[in-house]
Amino acid sequence: MLLKSLYVSVDPYMRGRMSDAKSYVAPYEVGQPVNGGIVVEVVDSKHDKLPKGAVVLGNLPWQQYIVHQGEGLNQVSPDVAPLSYHLGILGMPGLTAYVGLLNIGQPKAGETVVVSGAAGAVGTVVGQIAKIKGCRVVGVAGSDDKVAYLKNELGFDEAINYKTTDDINKAIADACPDGVDIYFDNVGGEISDAVYLSLNKFARIAICGQISYYNNTKPATGMRAEPILLKKSALMKGFIVSDYADEFANAAKELATWVKEGKLQYQETITEGFEQIPTAFLGLFSGENTGKQLVKVAEREG
Ligand SMILES: NC(=O)c1ccc[n+]([C@@H]2O[C@H](COP(=O)([O-])OP(=O)(O)OC[C@H]3O[C@@H](n4cnc5c(N)ncnc54)[C@H](OP(=O)(O)O)[C@@H]3O)[C@@H](O)[C@H]2O)c1
Repeated sequence: MLLKSLYVSVDPYMRGRMSDAKSYVAPYEVGQPVNGGIVVEVVDSKHDKLPKGAVVLGNLPWQQYIVHQGEGLNQVSPDVAPLSYHLGILGMPGLTAYVGLLNIGQPKAGETVVVSGAAGAVGTVVGQIAKIKGCRVVGVAGSDDKVAYLKNELGFDEAINYKTTDDINKAIADACPDGVDIYFDNVGGEISDAVYLSLNKFARIAICGQISYYNNTKPATGMRAEPILLKKSALMKGFIVSDYADEFANAAKELATWVKEGKLQYQETITEGFEQIPTAFLGLFSGENTGKQLVKVAEREG
């Protein structure tokens, strides 16, 4: 097949692949294209199941056109949702929010949930699912616009701009008068330290991402959480979305239903142009995006 790239996903985990440190995915190779989630259109095909005009999602190289044999590609229906959603709320980031919050967080109505990286692809979905489950939701994000978006459009109960608050410990404590039952962590660092100080007995902490460390060249140091975890009988668990692969089909169905019913709002930051991919990727580390960051490379032909 000849594939034409339509939407390219840029994701924080790609930073980890730009190093030869051992991890859960192999490093990118010098001299080879970066790869990741891309929605492509089949523009020419000798494949018996994926004809010309089909739209397909795959882990593919950052190229405008790709010659491919078809293995590992999944056809997506243009009727379910906009094509780009398969890289966001109906794709890897949405599934991450769903499986991490529900399996590790185990949210119950009336509990307080804090999510860091709250205005991003994963965070926006975590907070809204927690609202669907009847929780009080507090988001932490990096601008006043993001704080307003979380509160006014996504229905978060409170949101904190961690870049302008002069006392993050107090800001978290004030926003969570009944303490924190669930912490969904996308960032690590001082935001997490502040949340640990407000944990309730039997709190659950889902370690989803640690973006504040991804550019570090030395291991980060800081407050030790263990004495708090001990005193609060709290559970802290890291996870990779693929740990829950057997739940993906049901999770995707439920996410799609919530989107259709208007229970989940979804926002994308779409940058245009193949040559803008590196800029869009770098923007994840300075918080340029609200919701899912994508790059639109081309229009669909069919
Ligand atoms: N475990 C898994 O399987 C899995 C799967 C997907 C994603 N993740 C992780 O989940 C996290 C969110 O991913 P995403 O795709 O949804 O990205 P995202 O939140 O859409 O984008 C990254 C956001 O991180 C924030 N950020 C950047 N540097 C920061 C820092 N030093 N301190 C605090 N916040 C910072 C920025 O928002 P602000 O303006 O708020 O700073 C930025 O918009 C990432 O850590 C990612 O690695 C994990």
